[in-house]
Amino acid sequence: MHDELLGWRKEFPILETSTYLISNSLGAMPRAVADSLASYADMWATRGVTAWEEWWDMPVSAGDLLAPILGCGSREISLHQNVTITQAIIASCFDFQPPRNRVVFSDMEFPSVKYFWQAQKGVEIVIVPSDGVTVPLERTLAAIDERTLLVPMSHVLFRSAFIQDAAAIIKHAHSVGATVILDSFQAAGTIPINLKELNADFCVGGVLKWLCGGPGVSYLYVRPDLREKLAPRLTGWMGHRRPFQFEATQDLTGDSFRYLNGTPQIPAIFAAIPGLKIIGEVGVENIRRKSMRQTALLLEAALDRGFPVTAPRNPAERAGTVAINVPNGYQVCQELIRRKFMVDYRPNAGVRVSPHFYNTDVEVVSVVGEIGKIVAKAA
Ligand SMILES: Cc1ncc(COP(=O)(O)O)c(C=O)c1O
Repeated sequence: MHDELLGWRKEFPILETSTYLISNSLGAMPRAVADSLASYADMWATRGVTAWEEWWDMPVSAGDLLAPILGCGSREISLHQNVTITQAIIASCFDFQPPRNRVVFSDMEFPSVKYFWQAQKGVEIVIVPSDGVTVPLERTLAAIDERTLLVPMSHVLFRSAFIQDAAAIIKHAHSVGATVILDSFQAAGTIPINLKELNADFCVGGVLKWLCGGPGVSYLYVRPDLREKLAPRLTGWMGHRRPFQFEATQDLTGDSFRYLNGTPQIPAIFAAIPGLKIIGEVGVENIRRKSMRQTALLLEAALDRGFPVTAPRNPAERAGTVAINVPNGYQVCQELIRRKFMVDYRPNAGVRVSPHFYNTDVEVVSVVGEIGKIVAKAA
């Protein structure tokens, strides 16, 4: 079968030396990152402090590369360091006063998000129990009521790749006056997203996985009509209307700079740009079509061998990863990496295999064969 997305393989050097199936953790580095970082270094070396004329706007202007991927408008995103920081910025916009001081999330949320909220003073945590693969929608809806202030929710669960029904959760949350923080880390770049249609309040995530953007850049979308109603207390000079007047007190600007604080991570933004451009060019619809086919292939190959799988069977509920839960998964994963099959292992999930648009069907099937050989040898 002709797969025109394979034409992109030459843009990702690591594909020449390994079977790279770990884009849920760290997407392959685009070849163009080297030039982008070199241009950053060149600007710094030759222009010195005047480089800020171009760097200053980047935490918002580079966010525009995410707008078509997330389905939002121009200059509606600000870029930060990681998702944990974005939670802190959002938390600093709210007062956790009873009776509305609950933060509701599932036991499948990413640990950093859980740890952050559990550590906040005045917050009453409500945990929604999963079934190990999915979080049944009715349990989430039942947990969100008039006492709920915020709902941090993974759009796609990191352990099982289950796609949560963001539209239903946001609609219900709004009907009881609660606000949703959609974490699209495992969704952006692998499933189509339309934040406008979802009427999402906040959307956060990072670019190092499916967006091939490397570590150090996360995004924060705030619904435009909400932007000026909220005032982050985690703030700094970049959020000021007149940052270069160095005034004695904060006067928050009305645009997306409002959610910035201190000096931004310029080199990380330079590194992120090539990946974001490539994902935009490839198109998330095309990525999703291929991903559905390849995760089905993976699932079938794993089930044929009798391996337990931590992933939804329904392709409409499954994003880009299939976790294969073989015995001694950690050791199996280490051996796979030694054999140049790049995957990872997560407890309660298994060996996570994540094909992206640049992977071949042969690579996808061969990793399951390799797991079979390693398991047979150990038996
Ligand atoms: C759903 C989700 N949220 C958050 C994170 C990471 O958070 P942070 O950017 O704070 O490291 C991950 C990453 O591994 C994730 O899968």
